[in-house]
Amino acid sequence: MIILSVETSCDETSVAITKDGKSVLSNAVLSQINIHQPYGGVVPEIASRAHIESMLYMFDKAIKDAFIKVSDIDLVAVTQGPGLIGSLLVGINAATTFAYANNIPLMGVNHLLGHIYAAQIEGNMQFPLLTLLVSGGHTELLLVKDHLEIELLGTTLDDAVGEAYDKVARMLGLGYPGGPIVDRLAHQGEAIYNLPKPFLKNEPFNFSFSGLKSSVLNLVHNMKQRNETFKVEDVCASFQESVTEVLVEKTKNAANHLGVKQIIVAGGVAANKGLRTKMKARITDLEILTPSIQYCTDQAAMIGIAAYYQFKKHGALKDYYLKGSSAINFV
Ligand code: KG4
Ligand code: ZN
Repeated sequence: MIILSVETSCDETSVAITKDGKSVLSNAVLSQINIHQPYGGVVPEIASRAHIESMLYMFDKAIKDAFIKVSDIDLVAVTQGPGLIGSLLVGINAATTFAYANNIPLMGVNHLLGHIYAAQIEGNMQFPLLTLLVSGGHTELLLVKDHLEIELLGTTLDDAVGEAYDKVARMLGLGYPGGPIVDRLAHQGEAIYNLPKPFLKNEPFNFSFSGLKSSVLNLVHNMKQRNETFKVEDVCASFQESVTEVLVEKTKNAANHLGVKQIIVAGGVAANKGLRTKMKARITDLEILTPSIQYCTDQAAMIGIAAYYQFKKHGALKDYYLKGSSAINFV
């Protein structure tokens, strides 16, 4: 089964061709980072316009890169949310139009489901499994009992972990998006500052990163006030040490408690080298499935993989040309 998938929930315009919920035949991704960088974050209106400008080219590229014909496509899948509403609508309109014009069924896919299913590209899911989903907008522990049977165990009470990375990078003047920069600098420094590790002992499945973020702000502010010299690399290493300790320990405890067979670490922050290394070093009795770096951050291949399993279970929208634009409500 050949699926063309579209992802435009934030600042990546992406179209992919995947086969049978496993192989990625093409995954065209155009990042808008350069456009948003001067503003220090994603500007929604600019993101929507940039998606419109590159959308058709990305369809062409994905189809050409995969060496397929339009008539080979069995299903069109598109991210329906969560995400920036204007950006989502560009992808949904493009996918709906393409599906209608070529008489192909259409399906809406939840963005977070896509992040989880990115792991299926690298290995095989074994149920029940625990997913740590860490991205710019979400920090969640999820129990996946079977395909598409997902229970939310816990979430962040304030900032998502990727958001905390981006804010810390911003206060250190490191640029946007901050996660990859802080990760790189952390490996060049030492975790010499004792920052809080918010374990929330009474809430084993929930997270909180806003206090840790404020502690970094206070630390840097106080050192500057005292005219102390400090290495940004050491601040990054200390922040990353706290974040990864919390994420790894909470995941390990939850996995033991629930008796799962496998752990998936997914979402943009799963690209973090410190997190990947610590997770594998600390949890040795369970398989840890982590998408390769290119499939951690936003791209359409993950939407195509999730769509395959969703199609097998629920089928696609039939009168899609009417329901397509309300696909946002279709979970
Ligand atoms: O999944 P994603 O691409 O978009 C959302 O759905 O949010 O995640 C983006 C987030 C950003 O906050 C970015 O800073 C973070 O993932 N990120 C990282 C790394 N690479 C991306 N955070 C920490 N370390 C990284 N290497
Ligand atoms: Zn994402």
